[in-house]
Amino acid sequence: MKNLFATKPLKLLLEEMRGENRLRRVLSATHLTSLGVGAIIGTGIFVLTGVAAHDKTGPALILSFVVAGVVCVFAALCYAEFASMVPIAGSAYTYAYATLGELFAWIIGWDLILEYTVASAAVAHGWSHYFQDFIGSFGLAIPKVFTTAPFDFNPVLGRLMATGTWFDLPAIVITAIVATILVIGIRESARFNTMIVTFKVAIVLFVIVVGAFYVKPSNWVPFAPFGYTGVSFFGKTLLGRTGAGGQPLGVLAGAAMIFFAYIGFDSISTHAEEAVNPQKDVPIGIITSLLVCTALYIAVSAVLTGMVPYNHINIDAPVSDAFRQVGLPWAQSLIALGAIAGITSVLLVMMLSQPRIFLAMARDGLLPESFFGAVHKKFRTPYKSTILTAAVVATMSALVPLRILAELVNIGTLLAFLIVCAAVLIMRKINPDAPRPFRCPWVPVVPIAGVATCLLLMFSLPAENWARLIIWLAIGLVIYFAYGRHHSVMARLRRGEVLRRDDAAEALAK
Ligand code: ALA
Repeated sequence: MKNLFATKPLKLLLEEMRGENRLRRVLSATHLTSLGVGAIIGTGIFVLTGVAAHDKTGPALILSFVVAGVVCVFAALCYAEFASMVPIAGSAYTYAYATLGELFAWIIGWDLILEYTVASAAVAHGWSHYFQDFIGSFGLAIPKVFTTAPFDFNPVLGRLMATGTWFDLPAIVITAIVATILVIGIRESARFNTMIVTFKVAIVLFVIVVGAFYVKPSNWVPFAPFGYTGVSFFGKTLLGRTGAGGQPLGVLAGAAMIFFAYIGFDSISTHAEEAVNPQKDVPIGIITSLLVCTALYIAVSAVLTGMVPYNHINIDAPVSDAFRQVGLPWAQSLIALGAIAGITSVLLVMMLSQPRIFLAMARDGLLPESFFGAVHKKFRTPYKSTILTAAVVATMSALVPLRILAELVNIGTLLAFLIVCAAVLIMRKINPDAPRPFRCPWVPVVPIAGVATCLLLMFSLPAENWARLIIWLAIGLVIYFAYGRHHSVMARLRRGEVLRRDDAAEALAK
């Protein structure tokens, strides 16, 4: 029993950083911030704003962005403290191992698959929407059977309906392209990313500046047609209105949905091992990229809901379609192109992060190291797990609807954020004197506020997400007890097995 909660000593983590088989240190603070913005601005702002404004918030979507932004700032400060202490690949998974023990580490690692792999599938879907919007502006279309997932949630009827299609072909194609780029290498990927991020931010600024001229303040009235709250407890509405299928409506419910738009800043911490100066640059990257995106999102949502009455906002490609609705079809194509490029960079970073988490878990023996720990000889990338990730992303994005994927990602990521906030508190207790190049301010207020607000948003999601999360975690536990518990490096050290990793054994013995 005790072994389940055995923590991995901080000293061992830092010792391991010096070992062989590490990734190349090539990323600067600017690269990291750019990777952050690259991971953040994507399907959330370009696609999910439509569903959220239309079905859950109305113009008060602006407040939803403020609320979700604040929740993320709490979590980001906690991530930044950890990332500066333990700057190695693995992110929240590694932090949990050092504070809460192996079982929690496994749970969070398994949970992060929701954040990265399932999010990639949602993002690939969003990419497909804008791709179709873009070619549509030239009068082109792909055959209907290849346009989207074969079923979707109908918000009026409150249940799943067949869409009459087979699968989402563009989503599969983009996933395959991104996977190929990732296998080739991190430096090339970072450079490609910086280029796309510049273009994407320019397009977002274009939306804000040009769109501002088409805002009609009358569209902001009524401001919050669905109310200012939206909290339920396993299907029972506690605060606010209830929509079809028992889902909560209002500003908080909207915040829980568009929370997706903020996911990604934390992925910077998974690149800590590739950073030239991780202790300083990773916290800078996390906090700067989050603040920049929060400001842009609030502005975009204000412009979008000011340009088009909320009940006329398009659900598939809301931002570009708003420009069509005000009579600027050329801007529609330009924005669609920006969204396609922007969403590609999100996919790039998300699919870059997942194999690195697998790598950290494999090094600890919780996953088979021969597969998940394999680093390509020439490219120095975790190529096998990148290809596996791509296969899963392509399958899910082809077959499962965006809304369901996004909500599942949100609940999983909120849980990860919650654990990281709690872990900061625990680490301050058990390791008060460890060097913390970046310290989260106002401890314990910030971590406690982080835990509380993550929980609040989790309860503002439709209740079935809790069931999905619990099933997911249960599958993870079965795998842990069948494999990780016996194979973990910590367990083998306890059994006195001689490991290839002498450095680990040595560090433990010290
Ligand atoms: N924040 C990322 C997006 O919106 C996941 O696409």
